[in-house]
Amino acid sequence: MNASTTEQLLARREKLLGPGNPLFYDHPVHIVRGEGVWLYDTGGRRYLDCYNNVPCVGHCHPYVVDALTRQARTLNTHTRYLHETILDYAERLLATFDRSFERVLFACTGSEANDVALRMARMWSGGEGFICTNATYHGNTTAVSKLSSIFPPFDGFGPNIRMVPWPDSYRALDNLEGEALADAYVSKVAEAVDSFKRAGIKLAGMLICPIFANEGLPVIPSGYLEKAIRLVREAGGLYIADEVQAGFGRTGKMWGHTGQGATPDVVTLGKPMGAGHPISGVVARADVFDHFRNNTMYFNTFGGNPVSCAAGLAVLDVIERENLVANAAATGRYVYEGLQHLKSRHECIGDVRGAGLFFGVDLVSDRERKTPAPDLARHLVNTMREKGVLMGKIGEFDNVLKIRPPLPFSPDNADLLIALLDETLSELTAALKP
Ligand SMILES: Cc1ncc(COP(=O)(O)O)c(C=O)c1O
Repeated sequence: MNASTTEQLLARREKLLGPGNPLFYDHPVHIVRGEGVWLYDTGGRRYLDCYNNVPCVGHCHPYVVDALTRQARTLNTHTRYLHETILDYAERLLATFDRSFERVLFACTGSEANDVALRMARMWSGGEGFICTNATYHGNTTAVSKLSSIFPPFDGFGPNIRMVPWPDSYRALDNLEGEALADAYVSKVAEAVDSFKRAGIKLAGMLICPIFANEGLPVIPSGYLEKAIRLVREAGGLYIADEVQAGFGRTGKMWGHTGQGATPDVVTLGKPMGAGHPISGVVARADVFDHFRNNTMYFNTFGGNPVSCAAGLAVLDVIERENLVANAAATGRYVYEGLQHLKSRHECIGDVRGAGLFFGVDLVSDRERKTPAPDLARHLVNTMREKGVLMGKIGEFDNVLKIRPPLPFSPDNADLLIALLDETLSELTAALKP
């Protein structure tokens, strides 16, 4: 695509969609087709997708496209009519969870799912107070935006929110380590609980991403979650795990919260659930879920319609048939080793973190001091885009490369990613040398 066409599109976009509409990259990409882990622009140039988790089974997977078009040709209504596909999907989805999760509700976006989860917690606890971290994002409804500390709500966070520091083992609180570090972060949760008590606000729950993805994918100090959630429960609150990014095999396990020593009361799902088709969900214990259902009417016109559920079922089929969870674990390890090798070669990589096919590469201008390097991160992401590899950045300091490819990512794809990162890091750091 030539530059004038990009400019025309940008001008049209601004005129029609208004200013301030977020776009990736200094030189935006105009993508017209996707297949597997590849995206193609108008000029036919292909890009290795190392960013998009929504098309978790790969872009435009034919099995998913067939399933949803077949259902769209037959019928699409909503959940107020009886339909087997909705129940088949609910059964299949719940079977992937711990047995304590017996019910599911469908919506369209992660924000809606979290909005419902907040309401469930408020109704169950009789409280209004929520704890979240100080560098997170959970969505865009009025209620959920109050817990989205990296994009502050226009009218303030309000009195019912307490933010605790996310459990960072790299720039660790007071330079502590191990159990002492976990306990120091737990003490921040205790302070939040006490602060609610002093203010006369009853706790409703703690909403966190179980892998703290938006915060920068920390190595979570062992014991932190278990102890923090115990405090929340003792104060009458629920643990809501936001699996909108962590879920559906991303971490090399089906769910990000498993094996962490704290089973959530409510889990929210989204992004990869329909591989691009808008479906989200709230999965919960029967007592919490039924209390909500019995005391309020919740209906979502599009949430969980037969076409969405057909897409959701097809996604689960592909994840199983193509062993994508195991691939996320195995290829993920391979990518992780490649990134660690890059760290040994490039002083500007302060830390490499991640699980499965989700990585954070913490860029620093001074390794000793762990000084965040957000400008380098921006240059790197933009230069990689020019070289045909798409990735993003995240974190409290906006300096962490976010690498999160579709789950069929292969070792060959990984080799290309690592080679181009190596080359680009060398070029950029050489350019920065005085
Ligand atoms: C952890 C997390 N939760 C919830 C959301 C909101 O999801 P949606 O954009 O589908 O409303 C996001 C979106 O980025 C997210 O990262």
